[in-house]
Amino acid sequence: MKKLVFLFALLFSIENFAATNHFTLSYRDDPSSSIVIGWSGDNGIVHYGTTDFGITYNSYPNSKTVDRTATAHGINRNFARLTGLSPNSVYYFVVRDAGGTISARFKFKTLSDNPNDPVGFISGGDTRDGFKLFGAYIENCPSGNCLEQKRKGNRLVAKIRPDFVAFNGDFVMNQVTSNTNAEWNEWLNDWQLTISQDGRMYPMTFTQGNHEDNQDIYNFFDVPMEEYYALNINNGLLRLYMLNSELNPCTNTAQLNWISTDLQNHTNTLNPPTWKFIQYHVSTFAMGNGYGLVTDQMNCWVNLFEQYGVKLCMESHSHVTKWTLPCKKNTNGTDFVPDPEGIVYIGEGNWGAPHRTLDYTGTNRKPYIKDQEVFDNFFYVQVNPNQTTIQCVKFDGEENVTANTTDDLGKDLPSNAVLWNPANGNNIVISNQIGGLNQNTLSFSSVLPNPTKNYVKVKIENSVTSGTISIYNALGKEVLNQKFENTQEVKLDLEKMSTGTYYLFVKTDGKNSKIESHRIIKH
Ligand SMILES: [Fe+2]
Repeated sequence: MKKLVFLFALLFSIENFAATNHFTLSYRDDPSSSIVIGWSGDNGIVHYGTTDFGITYNSYPNSKTVDRTATAHGINRNFARLTGLSPNSVYYFVVRDAGGTISARFKFKTLSDNPNDPVGFISGGDTRDGFKLFGAYIENCPSGNCLEQKRKGNRLVAKIRPDFVAFNGDFVMNQVTSNTNAEWNEWLNDWQLTISQDGRMYPMTFTQGNHEDNQDIYNFFDVPMEEYYALNINNGLLRLYMLNSELNPCTNTAQLNWISTDLQNHTNTLNPPTWKFIQYHVSTFAMGNGYGLVTDQMNCWVNLFEQYGVKLCMESHSHVTKWTLPCKKNTNGTDFVPDPEGIVYIGEGNWGAPHRTLDYTGTNRKPYIKDQEVFDNFFYVQVNPNQTTIQCVKFDGEENVTANTTDDLGKDLPSNAVLWNPANGNNIVISNQIGGLNQNTLSFSSVLPNPTKNYVKVKIENSVTSGTISIYNALGKEVLNQKFENTQEVKLDLEKMSTGTYYLFVKTDGKNSKIESHRIIKH
């Protein structure tokens, strides 16, 4: 018995001692110059660089210690936040844990800092298992194994080599009746299937689903703002919003103010992003059975999206698949209607989760739905300055797909990927017709020096008598707000701000208030 206890103690200590696993990548800031490497288990040091030295850790020119540790559902997470990276570059890294054990050699690629470059990402959600009673599914997992379907999707990620994965919530069941710790452990293990054979890993963006606890995403992945955030993709090509549909869209004024301000600040300015896309978990009008319309989202979010020129919303939660024609909310906010100037909605979360049925078929079919069906899949979104192309990749047949090998940004899917090919075609193309909102004719302010170390001087044209200068970090959080009156030059002290990318907005007072934005870089 004593020997047995000793053996168990030894096994336990070995596991604690040597283990770094569950590797993940995420973004806290500009994806062209920063990344967060996350792992479970021991504390350690990331050794990295743009040359591949395999697992010879001390040959890598750079190293980074852990910036933050967190615990969620019994799992220790470590996060090293890498900054100052070169854009559009492949980086190699290993993690050397506190006991000296070296991880496998991984690699990742930073995004571009040029808005004319393309980007290609996977959008999908709902990876949870189906509910079981006495070991048998009581939800519809037609393959006989929801989790195995999810793994097919994960293996497809490794073959597609996307620039990143926009994950839309509902990771695991997380119910009173389930072993949540084991489920998360399994989810993180299964995520390792997304790593390509050459060690390439793919960063994720996250939204919170209804099966996550409040701090789960923050503690598992080190996202920047805990509940919602936004990212600049390719420095002006795409502003990508991660909204939290678990917070009431109308009464949670913190989120509502944040998204309104950020959308406004990225519209009708000198440097508006070419595209604005939004990701959130619960579908605003779900086609999946029993879900239907979320009135608060329709009332308090969709107006803003339409007003500020959002072109694509990515949704999940009801476990069916749809893509819409461009559409707008109808006059009384009870539904959408097709409108060429409107927004395309894709969803609704079929990354392995149990299948549901479609509510609106036959004569009840919604006129703005382009196609709808139920099967396991995610979407692949290729964004270019002039158009965005969306395809839907089926998980079945994954084993026969030939893996991509290139690290080019915005690459095409493998030629033999199995695409959804419904009645109305196997892709959606959204054209970018720059409308009035994006015209860049204003120029009443300038900012120097830029890049800068400690301060900037904002020069304002004589015709402007008063207004407000505000500075936002790359995630849309206001870090400075200052009024000006009867002055043509305002000096702002930036000494206390951390290094990185910021957006400075000059807004004039008065009835015909104008706003201009300047991207500033602090070294
Ligand atoms: Fe959900």
